Amino acid sequence: MPVKLEHVLKRIHALPPLPTSAMRVIALTKNPATSARELENVIAQDPALAAGMLRQANSAYYGYARRISSLQEAIVILGFQATQGLAMASAVAPFLKTQLLGYEIEQDGLWKHSMLTGMAAKSLCKRLKLPYGDVAYTAGLLHDIGKLVISIYVQEVGSYLLEKVTVSKLSYVEVEEKIIGYNHATVGGFLAKGWSLPEDLVESISCHHAPSSAQNHAELASVIHVANGLASLLGLGGGVDSFLNPIQQEALNRLSLKESDLELIMADLGEFLLDPTIFS
Ligand SMILES: [Fe+2]
Ligand SMILES: [Fe+2]
Repeated sequence: MPVKLEHVLKRIHALPPLPTSAMRVIALTKNPATSARELENVIAQDPALAAGMLRQANSAYYGYARRISSLQEAIVILGFQATQGLAMASAVAPFLKTQLLGYEIEQDGLWKHSMLTGMAAKSLCKRLKLPYGDVAYTAGLLHDIGKLVISIYVQEVGSYLLEKVTVSKLSYVEVEEKIIGYNHATVGGFLAKGWSLPEDLVESISCHHAPSSAQNHAELASVIHVANGLASLLGLGGGVDSFLNPIQQEALNRLSLKESDLELIMADLGEFLLDPTIFS
């Protein structure tokens, strides 16, 4: 039986808020008048955020030959948008590292899938010469946050849901919406809005399984859609629905992506996976 909107919203409100420092980093990085010093001061006030950011900035993914040892250096070298992505990654890691029984995702599974989706999204932007690679990284990182909210409902109807997918030939996300009343993408959009995230992130999260329904950011939503599809192929923690939400041809067309491009992105992901510290 479909779940009432008020129940979904209640569950969203029951989740812990994003740390204030992460919210302030988002606001500051959006404002062109912000100085690197201001940003540094905010991050430095939250030792866990600062440590998490430095750890990630030094991972092989960012590819800096020498060690980045101070926040100031990280901000200047990586730039404001990447700083926002790193701050967001540190802030949401505890959420994404939890086990989600409904989607059959083990501990750390969604974190790995989300990081890989973010990395794939950034690689796609680089190959397509799109200027918003760091925003795409953050959107990729957050795309499945709705699963945190509705996994509990999926847990109740999981086998029925899978059965429906088999007989109906619909995608998992379509059946999710039919049976629960909401799919995890829409709910993720509600949560992102509740966290006061910028509109491009909200829309690309809520439309990552139906990018053509995005009003203002269909291109970014398509990037996240394809990135999610590629990360899902690796079978690392995306969940029981990973292979039941195929990449839509329409999204590939919108981005003029060919099979050879997808193979190159998969090769990029394979290379990131060679570094055992990328998920730390
Ligand atoms: Fe998803
Ligand atoms: Fe996903």
